[in-house]
Amino acid sequence: MQQLDIPTRMMKMKGFIYRYFLEMVEERFGLTLVDTLVGKADLPSDGVYTHLGNYPYEEMLQLLDALSAETELPKESLLHAFGTYLFGRLNATHPEVIGLYESPVDLLKGLNDHIHFHVQNLYPEAALPKMEVREMGPGHLQVLYESSRGLYRLAHGLMEGVFSHFNIFVGIQFRLLEADGTIVQFELEYEPE
Ligand code: HEM
Repeated sequence: MQQLDIPTRMMKMKGFIYRYFLEMVEERFGLTLVDTLVGKADLPSDGVYTHLGNYPYEEMLQLLDALSAETELPKESLLHAFGTYLFGRLNATHPEVIGLYESPVDLLKGLNDHIHFHVQNLYPEAALPKMEVREMGPGHLQVLYESSRGLYRLAHGLMEGVFSHFNIFVGIQFRLLEADGTIVQFELEYEPE
């Protein structure tokens, strides 16, 4: 991936991801906690994000640290929950994209070459993961996640969001192929249609 060589501290991320993150915090834990996080995390942006602006990726890590400290929940679980929430928001804001797919497997198969491909064209600065999908048999999918950001628990939640959008129950297991979570193999088991 082109961004693999960029050190984490120099990476940026789209503003709408931060906005949805703070929105989730507000919905689940209340507005006071949003204020507390923004204050405690000591962010260069002061927690003010425009939808299409680009902000240091480190701010996401600082927000996650602060949320984890305040709620006493592990960062991994918070990222996972955010993934499911984020899919709901992406579906609400881009129904024309999600609506093109007839099944969760088609959608996941279209992620690299269609969804994120267009995202990359629109925002060349975006750092997107690579997610290779392999159909292993009826109701069994293997997804290989690769990204210098190691946000595999976000991918986990997003994939659950995709299946739940199609009302299909999925069981997801994963194995870290790199200890820092930059390469992760997911096994998805679901009820075949
Ligand atoms: C309409 C649908 C979608 C749009 C418009 C979209 C767009 C984006 C954008 C703009 C980013 C941030 C990149 C940056 O600022 O550097 C991102 C990140 C990400 N996307 Fe998507 N995405 C969509 C659906 C999905 C789905 C369905 C999945 C997985 C099932 C997914 C997985 C991820 C992950 C894991 C990241 C975090 C970055 C990383 O791990 O490297 N996205 N996406």
